Amino acid sequence: LRVSFTAKDYMGAESDVVTIHGYTDVASQFDGAVTAYERRHNVGSESCTTCHNSEANFHKNGNFAEGGLGCVACHNNGQDRRAGYSSPGFGPMVHSMHWGVGSKSLDEDGKEVSNSASVIAPQTGCVACHDSGVVDLNAVPNQFIKARAYGVSNKMASPITANCYACHNDESALNHMMQNGGTTTEDVPATEWYKLSTTESCATCHAEGSSFGIEKYHNFTR
Ligand code: HEC
Ligand code: HEC
Ligand code: HEC
Ligand code: HEC
Ligand code: HEC
Repeated sequence: LRVSFTAKDYMGAESDVVTIHGYTDVASQFDGAVTAYERRHNVGSESCTTCHNSEANFHKNGNFAEGGLGCVACHNNGQDRRAGYSSPGFGPMVHSMHWGVGSKSLDEDGKEVSNSASVIAPQTGCVACHDSGVVDLNAVPNQFIKARAYGVSNKMASPITANCYACHNDESALNHMMQNGGTTTEDVPATEWYKLSTTESCATCHAEGSSFGIEKYHNFTR
């Protein structure tokens, strides 16, 4: 649900709109059973607004309140967004818009510059958004994310790969991920793509406490 409030002198600018978002319980179309809206939201509620310090709309009635909760309605695993050809889904897109290909823009001389990598050190900055401890790779649902954001339609990516690749976007890193069952180019089948499991095994080595756990290389505490 969205409720929008416009400024008194509203002339159509998105920044003059503040939108409040909420998610209702979920009613099954199959048997009418009602359950809570239980999608995990793996970032803190202040995680965007500490830096993006306006709760006015970013675009399309989405704002930075509550860790971008309102973005998720349109940027999730099933909404196959181009997202400026940054990265798919919500997390990978946000990673990429700060440190990956999505963060690159051209300056006046046509030279490629980075949006934010120069002001936020990514390997020390996981805690800037993930403020409740190390992200648990074993808890990431083993389901695909539709991945038109890589530039080819009807493809999907495995979730841990998409999240890591958004920052680790060179060829050797991608090869390593593919050797361990990760993919960015799985064909979307005709039906029920969301029921398929992926074959990525990243958590075995990179979950917290494992031999190459992500907490050994990135910072999840302040
Ligand atoms: C540690 C500071 C920091 C945090 C935390 C942060 N951002 Fe950013 N973000 C930046 C900076 C700096 C830029 C680049 C400058 C700009 O475009 O505002 C940026 C750019 C972006 C962009 C691209 C902007 C554009 O105009 O295209 C998006 C989208 C974005 N951030 C979303 C988010 C979301 C969603 C969150 C929370 C989950 C978040 N950011 C958390 C600092 C931050
Ligand atoms: C009502 C739906 C909707 C909401 C809410 C929404 N978006 Fe989008 N977003 C879109 C559409 C549509 C596009 C462009 C088409 C595409 O990507 O396939 C887009 C594109 C983008 C892009 C690509 C670059 C650009 O600026 O166009 C970024 C980054 C992005 N959205 C981030 C966000 C963030 C962050 C939020 C929450 C603050 C958000 N979006 C909320 C629908 C939405
Ligand atoms: C600018 C904010 C921001 C920063 C900083 C950030 N992430 Fe994320 N990350 C997100 C968002 C947003 C999501 C998606 C959360 C969701 O969908 O509930 C996400 C999701 C993830 C996921 C998937 C988790 C899941 O449960 O599905 C992983 C893994 C991850 N991030 C790793 C990292 C690592 C490692 C770092 C530091 C190197 C990092 N992130 C830094 C915003 C950020
Ligand atoms: C927000 C960006 C970001 C995300 C997301 C991210 N990393 Fe990193 N990671 C970095 C940076 C920056 C370094 C420092 C590497 C360097 O200097 O090249 C690093 C270093 C590492 C290193 C050690 C150095 C190396 O390059 O071999 C490993 C291993 C690693 N990351 C694994 C992961 C895994 C696994 C994920 C996904 C679960 C992940 N990272 C997600 C930014 C990120
Ligand atoms: C058998 C153990 C193992 C598995 C499984 C595994 N990795 Fe790694 N990964 C490693 C080791 C070892 C390194 C190098 C660490 C270092 O540099 O100290 C590494 C490095 C990385 C890096 C940083 C590489 C770079 O060049 O920037 C990323 C990102 C990464 N792994 C992601 C993944 C993803 C995603 C998966 C699942 C698809 C995965 N890994 C599965 C052991 C593993």
